[in-house]
Amino acid sequence: LAKLEGGHSAYVFTSGMAAIDAVFRLLRPGDHVVLSEAVYGGVFRIATQLLVHFGLEFSFVDTSSPELVLAAMRANTRMLYIETPTNPTLRITDIAAMAKLATERNALLVVDNTFLSPYLQNPIALGAHIVVHSMTKYLNGHSDSTGGCVVLTRPEDAEKIYFIQRSAGAGLAPMDCFLVSRGIKTLAVRMLQHNANGIAVARHLDAHAKVRKVYYPGLPSHPQHDVARKQQRGPGAMLSFDLGSLEAARRFLNQVKICALAESLGGVESLISLPALMTHASMPKEVQERIGITDGLVRLSVGIEDLEDIIADLDQALLYV
Ligand SMILES: Cc1ncc(COP(=O)(O)O)c(C=O)c1O
Repeated sequence: LAKLEGGHSAYVFTSGMAAIDAVFRLLRPGDHVVLSEAVYGGVFRIATQLLVHFGLEFSFVDTSSPELVLAAMRANTRMLYIETPTNPTLRITDIAAMAKLATERNALLVVDNTFLSPYLQNPIALGAHIVVHSMTKYLNGHSDSTGGCVVLTRPEDAEKIYFIQRSAGAGLAPMDCFLVSRGIKTLAVRMLQHNANGIAVARHLDAHAKVRKVYYPGLPSHPQHDVARKQQRGPGAMLSFDLGSLEAARRFLNQVKICALAESLGGVESLISLPALMTHASMPKEVQERIGITDGLVRLSVGIEDLEDIIADLDQALLYV
């Protein structure tokens, strides 16, 4: 993992959330963190409902705008924590611009690279200090284990993360290490297929009359399409699309057959979910609305099945919308 991400070392944890929790434990009471406002719901939950009780301060901003990030930074800001692309609205943050801001202010830049995997994006090459992954997703790739990793660039951070991992007892168990190591052997071929299917499905949905809007960095209409092209080797296989209402989304989700209704992502099989009621249910409604999580927003993790089968499945389910 350290080699794949171009880091100094990597430590593996029982889940992505355990890895992310370890990274926040590098901080001290009174420290402030600026995060992407559209982070994974679990990160929003751990920050606002748990870590705040230990004296950490958090500001959630639209990190696709360096100006907003700069405005949110304070004298006690010690970390910038970004997800790019974000979950589920696929906003892109300019990693190199964030690295510059963080380094100038003596803060750590942490990038969650789960959505693209090291095959499609390497944040450390763009200046990030720490990379985290939910290995539950593309790195393992088969939806049969959970795991997380922290990739470090500085020996002093690595020492602290190793201490936290051992002290908190959150290291990944041997069987899961085996599964992820085996998954990584096919990462390249899986990602090529995921990426090709992702592009084709996004274009298909974008042209479909029943779909109001598609969120996918590979579409020229995406607001940060140029930044994505600059820092990613491909747009990936995560996309979201708006069907207009909860009722329409429910009818659609009840009909899909190849795409399994499930919260996870990044496995060989296509997984589909409704962020407002599933992954992001712990986010207050007004925050959901601000970041574009409407009731009719459907998130799709495009798998590596035959492309025609995926498209036929989506088309037959869209007839019910
Ligand atoms: C982008 C991202 N980061 C972190 C996590 C947390 O990972 P885990 O489910 O392995 O705890 C998830 C889970 O969905 C995720 O999507």
